Amino acid sequence: MQKPKGTYDMFGKDSETYLYFNKIVESLMDKYNYKYFKTPTFELSEVFHSGVGETTDIVSKETYDFVDRGGRNITLRPEGTAGLARCLIENKLYAESLPLKAWYLGSMFRYERPQAGRNREFTQFGVEAYGIDDPSIDAEVISILVNLFKMIGLTGIKVNINSVGDKESRENYRNALVEYFKPNINDLCEDCKVRFEKNPLRMLDCKIDGESEIMKNAPIITDYLTEESKKHFELVQKYLSDMNIDFDVNPRIVRGLDYYTNTVFEVEADIKGSQNVLGAGGRYNNLIQNLGGPSVPGVGFAVGVDRLFLALKEKEIDLREEKTLDIYAFATSENEKDYLISLVNTLRLNGFDVDMDYTSRNMKNNFSRADKLDAKFIIIIGEDEIKNEYVTIKDNKTKEGFKISLNEMIDFLDKKLEGYNEN
Ligand code: HAM
Repeated sequence: MQKPKGTYDMFGKDSETYLYFNKIVESLMDKYNYKYFKTPTFELSEVFHSGVGETTDIVSKETYDFVDRGGRNITLRPEGTAGLARCLIENKLYAESLPLKAWYLGSMFRYERPQAGRNREFTQFGVEAYGIDDPSIDAEVISILVNLFKMIGLTGIKVNINSVGDKESRENYRNALVEYFKPNINDLCEDCKVRFEKNPLRMLDCKIDGESEIMKNAPIITDYLTEESKKHFELVQKYLSDMNIDFDVNPRIVRGLDYYTNTVFEVEADIKGSQNVLGAGGRYNNLIQNLGGPSVPGVGFAVGVDRLFLALKEKEIDLREEKTLDIYAFATSENEKDYLISLVNTLRLNGFDVDMDYTSRNMKNNFSRADKLDAKFIIIIGEDEIKNEYVTIKDNKTKEGFKISLNEMIDFLDKKLEGYNEN
């Protein structure tokens, strides 16, 4: 049997990287005072249809939709923002918790054409900040992304920002786009024709015609911003500069989701082997209202974790915590196995990382197993040890041996390991 196309198994070094990355993210989020949220991996389809937008590629072509056994229309989440907004509304978190800063990490699902850095099930780490319309939080959110990459040692990062304006800016821009595309609409793909009628802004994001000359010469949103949107955008840029964060203004960024207002951004890495947009996001001041909640502004981003790991590999960055086993324990024969099991249990309850021999290997195999597991100490239990209430401990680095009475064992190991970690 094979895994479905566009999914992956994670094990070995990749799992170590993933777990360490989780730790880094958690400590990063503490620094900014964001709180962890977990929402379902599937939602009622309308959450994404009204949230992300019917005419987006994500909703019109890429969602995993199904009817469950109770006849409900369900969608595997293609992204985290709409589900979190639903959570904010359903739990009335807007009533007393605003401003609220949330983060999440988990699987997302999109039926895309798989390639390096583009999967059908992929992991996103994301943040969402609710209840603050001030541009300082847009800048903070961007700074989190930049600092995350800094923390993991990823260089060659470029931040591209743009503004897609408020409702009025976009209405003006929409009219300009309609005027511009009208004479050429028949030269464009079928998707573009539908989008021309329903949501001309989405045409700029077309995967077929997106790179064509017609698109490249299309009017740009920044020429249609209202004074208020312009001011907001200028302040975001100022705050980024205040934090010494380099960025480029790229008026072509429109993003593939409909909920954005004002600030949008994408962060790319200078990598060749896979998709290079590692994270992206923006402000969404109407999403929560569109989903049936009160008027609460939001801003956030999501990082493609799998994509980020590919970038780390390409740059030969080994993001793993050094982890070795404290103790490997074995018995000299099957007769001492029950004693061994109980001893190992005691050691683990006392805070040691312990593995043991389950299969009664011979002495030589046990020593090589201890080496393979990189165990710092080996504990050997034989008939004599049990009878005289002591354990044989071997320092696996110095090869020194000790006979330690049972009631001194924990203290002895604690002291030895303390010294070990200091060396
Ligand atoms: P997005 O641009 O669709 O935005 O996705 C964010 C990031 O997820 C991308 O930059 C990319 O790194 C990663 N990603 C997207 N699709 C895939 C895929 N098929 N395989 C691997 N990685 C992928 C959002 O999802 C918004 N919810 C971000 C946001 C949060 N905006 C405001 N708050």
